Amino acid sequence: MSTLPDTFLWGGAVAAHQLEGGWDQGGKGPSVVDVLTAGAHGVPRRITQDVEPTEFYPNHEAVDFYHRFREDIALFAEMGLRCFRTSIAWSRIFPRGDETEPNEEGLRFYDELFDELLAHGIQPVVTLSHFELPLHLARGYGGFRNRELVGFFERFARVCFERYATKVRYWMTFNEINNQMNTDAPIFLWTNSGVTIEPGEDAQEVMYRAGHHELLASARAVAIGHEIDPELQIGCMISSATIYPYSCDPADMMAAQEANHDRFFFPDVHVRGHYPRYALTTFEREGWDVGILPGDEEILAAGTVDYVGFSYYMSIVVRATDDKDADESNVVSGGLKGAVANPHIQATEWGWPIDPVGLRYTLNVLSERYDLPLFIVENGFGAVDEVEADGSIHDPERIAYLRDHVEQMMLAVTHDGVDLLGYTPWGIIDLVSFTTGEMKKRYGMIHVDRDNEGNGTMERRRKDSFTWYQQVIATNGTAL
Ligand code: BG6
Repeated sequence: MSTLPDTFLWGGAVAAHQLEGGWDQGGKGPSVVDVLTAGAHGVPRRITQDVEPTEFYPNHEAVDFYHRFREDIALFAEMGLRCFRTSIAWSRIFPRGDETEPNEEGLRFYDELFDELLAHGIQPVVTLSHFELPLHLARGYGGFRNRELVGFFERFARVCFERYATKVRYWMTFNEINNQMNTDAPIFLWTNSGVTIEPGEDAQEVMYRAGHHELLASARAVAIGHEIDPELQIGCMISSATIYPYSCDPADMMAAQEANHDRFFFPDVHVRGHYPRYALTTFEREGWDVGILPGDEEILAAGTVDYVGFSYYMSIVVRATDDKDADESNVVSGGLKGAVANPHIQATEWGWPIDPVGLRYTLNVLSERYDLPLFIVENGFGAVDEVEADGSIHDPERIAYLRDHVEQMMLAVTHDGVDLLGYTPWGIIDLVSFTTGEMKKRYGMIHVDRDNEGNGTMERRRKDSFTWYQQVIATNGTAL
């Protein structure tokens, strides 16, 4: 095969909390993201106790997709998208998270959204949990550190599968479940698991405990989904910033291997249905109780995923930490010990290293490790865009980034034989940045008139990348 299959899912990706807005409408309850203030590059977002009237929360209005989704879907259709990845905001369906009955108005919103997509020939691809845990489950229960959340998630997943199984074939359980390995930045544990670390606690132990509960919740969701409809394809979703050793120095090789244990811990369990030996040995060595109970092994084994969804934005270089002269400045490290700049590649304005070949490398690594279909569900270039006087937006750097990545992705499929379901570039329409809460870090091919402070008309405009991607899809990737 020298080209992509005709069934290849070219699409675009977003997450409910980053574009919907309507944070308190239609009966929706507050989520963990609704108490995140705005930050900036190098300035972390703060987590407030509750929604405070004097604070600005960029996700509350986001880009108002809640009211404008029909207009936006018409643009997606014009672009030729074959699929659209979004998430279901958990707190629209269960506003507090622990109710026994779902919120019908919230369910109806996603019915309308999925129907509109399908009417345009666009398949919805849905993440159940993309940083949208109901705030009450975090504040009232301690988030996923509490095993009760497994049951709440099961109920949420069951309601979604039962309601939407005829409309949605591709699902994912937890978005970037592995980025909470970075316990240095509180935002990751908070948004993945609704967990904050108390003084005196070992953050890693707490993270693994919450992670264990999420792995159980994910496995239960997969089993329930398959029970409802065996045809459903339910995947995991991991952050796949590829890790390179700095050099062939054996110490660097070992440092990279260790970092990879952290990178692959979650997908190893999702795919294999049991804990890897390196993790069990770590728990034992550290004396950590991560909450594994009798019966859990069976639950994990009965809920292995159908495919591996992943985000790819960058590669990260790791050097043995006793190299004191290593350049650790100006690199996004993902919390990895010994992360250093890669002298061979450039980075974005936000310090995210740009490495298209790393995408092909990643596809091969995941394919060899898991032997399952893969799905690139995020990839993109966050940058400041200028609107010209005539309303046009020229974004050649975004086009170059995407073109180079698509080229490598195609090589992985056509040359290396990777089984790839599709490609959904991140932030197909401009939305609120997750890590910084900014609007000016834009990924979209559709521009939204809104700034960091929440000003703007919300008008949508096509960027140059819109036409470029339209052509890529129309030619199934042959005209890049
Ligand atoms: C991934 C997340 O980490 O990266 C998205 O799944 C996020 O939610 C994306 O938006 C890009 O990150 P950022 O911080 O540039 O928005």
